Amino acid sequence: MCARKKVITKLLELTYPFHDGFVAVIFMKYGYYGQVASKVPPGARILEVGSGTGRMLQTLCGRAYGVGLDISKKFLLIAKERLKRCPFDLVLGTATNLPFRSDAFDAVVTFTMVHHLTDKEKDEMLEEIKKVSKLYLFGELDKSWCWTVLLLRLIGGKSVMRKEKLEEHGFVVEEWRDMGGFCLVAGKARRT
Ligand SMILES: C[S@@+](CC[C@H](N)C(=O)[O-])C[C@H]1O[C@@H](n2cnc3c(N)ncnc32)[C@H](O)[C@@H]1O
Repeated sequence: MCARKKVITKLLELTYPFHDGFVAVIFMKYGYYGQVASKVPPGARILEVGSGTGRMLQTLCGRAYGVGLDISKKFLLIAKERLKRCPFDLVLGTATNLPFRSDAFDAVVTFTMVHHLTDKEKDEMLEEIKKVSKLYLFGELDKSWCWTVLLLRLIGGKSVMRKEKLEEHGFVVEEWRDMGGFCLVAGKARRT
């Protein structure tokens, strides 16, 4: 793992009670996980990239099955405990090199994960996603003026989901919906 990824992973692990407690509980309260989960076709085999402590997969338990992949061993262990009654395997790995065969999944999901990547890493991840699935569903920080994004910029994170970026990689954006509050968008993109 490169130095930048190590620092981000360490920071996320250190601030884990804030993400897994405060932020995730607010996301649940406002139904943000549900808004993305509702786009997943029932019975689908899915991959969540950046599955963290398993909050998104927990929302999908009973609707889909598949794999959660994350760069943090600590988060995977927490997710394993949280998801012990759910049909998901958990894999240590990175978004920019997905260890799966072509079209292995019906859908790939990311939720508040893309903002941890540099622009180059986003390009690499979108190529990997395109390889393993036709359908990409996401919930992500969007507007560059929003306080969460400004905070991220201060700690070296860059940005956010952009329609143009998806289109550059051969996805057609079928849905793009403002989720409000934390300046999140939910979306659905399909490989051409
Ligand atoms: C804010 S958390 C969101 C977790 C989960 N999606 C949820 O909503 O509960 C972002 C997650 O992305 C993971 N992550 C960051 N960079 C990654 C990368 N390059 N490859 C895989 N996972 C990564 C982090 O370890 C963290 O678990």
